[in-house]
Amino acid sequence: MHIVSLALGGCLKAEPVRYGITEDTGGHITYVLGEMEALARRSDVRFAEIITRRFDEPKLGSAHAQHQEWISSKLAITRIDSGNPAYLSKEALRCDRQAFTTALIAELQSREPLPDLIHAHFADAADVAIQIERALGIPFVYTAHSLGMDKRAAMASPCQAIDARLAEENRAISGARAIIGSSRDECERQLVAYPSARIEKIHRLAPGIERGHESSRPSTAIDLIAPFLRDPTKPIVLAVARPVHKKNLARLVEAYGTSPHLREQSNLVILAGLRETLTSGEKEQLEVMRDLVDAIDCHDLYGSVAYPKSHTREQVQALYSLAARTRGVFVNPALMEPYGLTLVEAAAHGLPVVATKVGGPQDIVGELEHGLLVDPNDASDIAGAIERLISDRPFWERCSCSGRKKSLDMNWDRYAAGFRNIAANILEGRSGSVIRPSHLVVSDLDNTLTGCSNGVDRFARFLKRRHDFGFVVATGRSIVEARRLLREWGLPSPLGWITSVGSEIYLERSGNPTLDETFAKQISEDWEPERIDDLLADLPDLVPQAFYEQRSFKRSYFAKDAEQAAEIEKLLQSQGIRARVIFSHDCLLDILPIKAGKAAAMRHVAGMFGVTAQNVFAAGDSGNDADMLTVCENAILVGNHSSEIARLASRPNVYLSKRSNASGTLEGLLAHQRARRTRIRQKLELSA
Ligand code: GLC
Ligand code: MG
Repeated sequence: MHIVSLALGGCLKAEPVRYGITEDTGGHITYVLGEMEALARRSDVRFAEIITRRFDEPKLGSAHAQHQEWISSKLAITRIDSGNPAYLSKEALRCDRQAFTTALIAELQSREPLPDLIHAHFADAADVAIQIERALGIPFVYTAHSLGMDKRAAMASPCQAIDARLAEENRAISGARAIIGSSRDECERQLVAYPSARIEKIHRLAPGIERGHESSRPSTAIDLIAPFLRDPTKPIVLAVARPVHKKNLARLVEAYGTSPHLREQSNLVILAGLRETLTSGEKEQLEVMRDLVDAIDCHDLYGSVAYPKSHTREQVQALYSLAARTRGVFVNPALMEPYGLTLVEAAAHGLPVVATKVGGPQDIVGELEHGLLVDPNDASDIAGAIERLISDRPFWERCSCSGRKKSLDMNWDRYAAGFRNIAANILEGRSGSVIRPSHLVVSDLDNTLTGCSNGVDRFARFLKRRHDFGFVVATGRSIVEARRLLREWGLPSPLGWITSVGSEIYLERSGNPTLDETFAKQISEDWEPERIDDLLADLPDLVPQAFYEQRSFKRSYFAKDAEQAAEIEKLLQSQGIRARVIFSHDCLLDILPIKAGKAAAMRHVAGMFGVTAQNVFAAGDSGNDADMLTVCENAILVGNHSSEIARLASRPNVYLSKRSNASGTLEGLLAHQRARRTRIRQKLELSA
């Protein structure tokens, strides 16, 4: 497979990259390099090629004028000459785009064979990719990195430029075969807000971080900051971000400057890109630096704030190490952060974080459990969180350990495996032939299949052997998360997806899950989500789950206990609201339309495939599986089930597995089949 990554802006070259040297030389370059290096390492990738724009401005680096820069034997950067040798920033690039596209198509036309797939980074590259697909038939996938939708919502009076940007992003979303996002917020809230978005095309693939620097020598970092600081041994509060307004660095200085505790106990270190002087550079950079120095001046922070003018990649890594060694904190106070790779880098170094709750950090901090989320507009909230981490030693230790351990999973090889999987599906363009199974295995995902990879392999082998068994997923997760989990665990592709606790059904049609509108229509009857929202808005101890967990036919909360769940059910009834209340895992509460749920969805899917009830098998482990396990004739309760559904084990239709996870599901399938054969034999013997 020959994969092209296409990115037009910034100073894109092999490491060392001078991040922040221009406004557009930011995190997406780490992303493109990390992605392509990992793809090039795979034996099923023949060539990983990064394509960008050529420019000739020696002060930005001579590499940018080279037509081809080889990074390894299967990885190269190709630079296309648009005819204009100047470096262009994002806005100016627009005027150059047509010339660039024409030159790139001409270059590709001269090649044999053509690349198989293009990964377009940002909407401008997607626009180029749309034209390439039209001219040469090469499909593309799209990664937005940062979308304009939220920006528009925040504007008092939206201007033409932002509307044009949204339209361009919408075209990218519409034209791409698949869209790859990093965070749940990006995938399930931001992207789906675009008119052309279809959730079935959106995949979440978490980027990795560059490894191997976790033990960088802190001494290289000391040279960078010692000249600024009176006592460089105090805990370091560290921020690393480009000098642009949305990174909100001045607010961090304010938070630090107004906290006597932080001023006394810590140093603040801010790496805000690279600069020659405080008076030269791009306009936004100048403004940001002026605000920063102004705030330092205003709070009189000399001797305790460092803001070095340049740094190398190694020094940044060393600074993370040093900050961790001083028991400091990494802070990302951005007004909006699409993902937040630096938070993963901090985690890898064992450095706890305080991060904006707006955007991707929610997922990262949720997953790595290595710090606190804050409101980026509230300086005292930011200061309070940093103070807590610096003064609560056991808490700091827990965050440090957790981040170090859990971040090991976030690596580029894992990303590349997922990417290759998505690419293969696009290129194979799976045939649209409908498979007609005679049996269905409807199974929950978390802990019913996931948990042990040996079990997953055995389960997958069973399905491969038994073509008469169709596999259907039935999960509480959203479709995007369900697909990610399946990919990461190497589970077989299902024929259908029951997601969001049985409130959505997707059936596989020509390689893409497609929403079952009939089911949606059926369950929409009597569904009054606004009344539910109003009624439950101010209940004590009831906290709504994240925004993206609230789906068209599902409202989800964290509840105190089973009693509270029962009270809520009564409350809804007393108001004449018809809805189902489902409680699981001691704290998760879902409210669904009266006709929805995993059981109803399972019946619907069985009907779609014409499989009779006696040939349907259902496996589960927790509260949201209860209805399905109650009505299914061949129900399987895996050994590792939660106590909330233990009572189901005594039902005659339920097989209680000795084994856990996927092995338990497989054990139950085989046991039900054996029991069935025995019954048939006995019947035959009786009638003989
Ligand atoms: C999944 C969903 C969550 C739900 C839970 C229990 O984790 O993401 O919203 O509450 O399942 O059904
Ligand atoms: Mg489960």
